[in-house]
Amino acid sequence: MAVTSEHTYDDRRATDVDMGVTLAGVHFPNPVFTASGCAAAGRELNQFFDVADLGGVVTKSVMREPRTGRPTPRMAETPSGMLNSIGLQGPGIDAFLAKDLPWLDEHDARAVVSIAGSSVEEYALLARKLRGARGVALLEVNISCPNVEDRGQVFACHAGSAAEVIRAVRRETRVPVFAKLSPDVTDIVEIASAVVEAGANGLSMINTLLGMVIDTDTLRPVLAGLTGGLSGPAIRPVAVRAVWQVHAAMPKVPILGMGGIRTGLDALQFLAAGASAVSVGTTVFGDPGAPMRILDELRQALAERGHASVRDVVGLAHRPAVATITEDADPPGSPT
Ligand SMILES: Cc1cc2nc3c(=O)[nH]c(=O)nc-3n(C[C@H](O)[C@H](O)[C@H](O)COP(=O)(O)O)c2cc1C
Repeated sequence: MAVTSEHTYDDRRATDVDMGVTLAGVHFPNPVFTASGCAAAGRELNQFFDVADLGGVVTKSVMREPRTGRPTPRMAETPSGMLNSIGLQGPGIDAFLAKDLPWLDEHDARAVVSIAGSSVEEYALLARKLRGARGVALLEVNISCPNVEDRGQVFACHAGSAAEVIRAVRRETRVPVFAKLSPDVTDIVEIASAVVEAGANGLSMINTLLGMVIDTDTLRPVLAGLTGGLSGPAIRPVAVRAVWQVHAAMPKVPILGMGGIRTGLDALQFLAAGASAVSVGTTVFGDPGAPMRILDELRQALAERGHASVRDVVGLAHRPAVATITEDADPPGSPT
């Protein structure tokens, strides 16, 4: 069957495509970032390419104290994805400020600093400690953490607690704040609206999905932590759907999209769904040079489709479909 396209394809050269993006008033030379927890603080990646060539480096979520993370085994393979229960292993905010952030600044990287806490006050304290630190382009607030003050309920799964964290962080910083959303909710638009109302300047989405793998010999969960976060290509359609829904509800709010991006065309899906930039996570473990390859592939794909700027495709998938919809067709979102 012939497929028609509204795009005018021309012979634009990839090098002519303007890849610059602005997120909450902060300019980035291109839309390809790392994802939190998948490239530490950028040092390891710098042996494969210059970290300054990335749109931004999103650092592993940092907490107040040094942490060793969760017990092993904390990785399990899944079809087309990975299950991890690493937890928030890291050096703590003081070491991060002393070593990691200055390293990123010296290497001209644009740091998106991810913070995580187990209480609202811990998030506020982290934002306070980062106040005035050189080289912080954005703060990404990882709210997929259990709240010790509320029976371990994950902040990101409750609009009220998610908003409380963002409000507390917002009070302590002048840097734009992105709230990182979890897909493990019934209505992601409700959580997105609550955090934007509380002062988030943008949204990062999605974090991993909660999953479990059972060892069929021991008939016990493979991970010592029992459950883990599912990431990689398996979650891409969920992530694209979430970005789509949130962009439809609040098209002016910038979104950093992520979830299973492996190629430039995967990144293009996120942009068309409404993300202004993307993070590459799990792919980097098997292919450390992937962010630069994905950037090249995206630039090429935009050129082939005749776009002069990456900004032109943001949200394009929301324009009405060309296909005729019959009157008895089910509305979007109906069960199959
Ligand atoms: C090993 C691992 C560690 C992660 N650590 C963090 C983290 O510290 N903070 C965070 O917000 N997200 C963390 N994530 C989630 C990723 O940033 C990303 O949201 C998710 O994996 C989906 O993207 P991907 O499929 O490209 O990996 C981690 C993911 C993985 C696989």
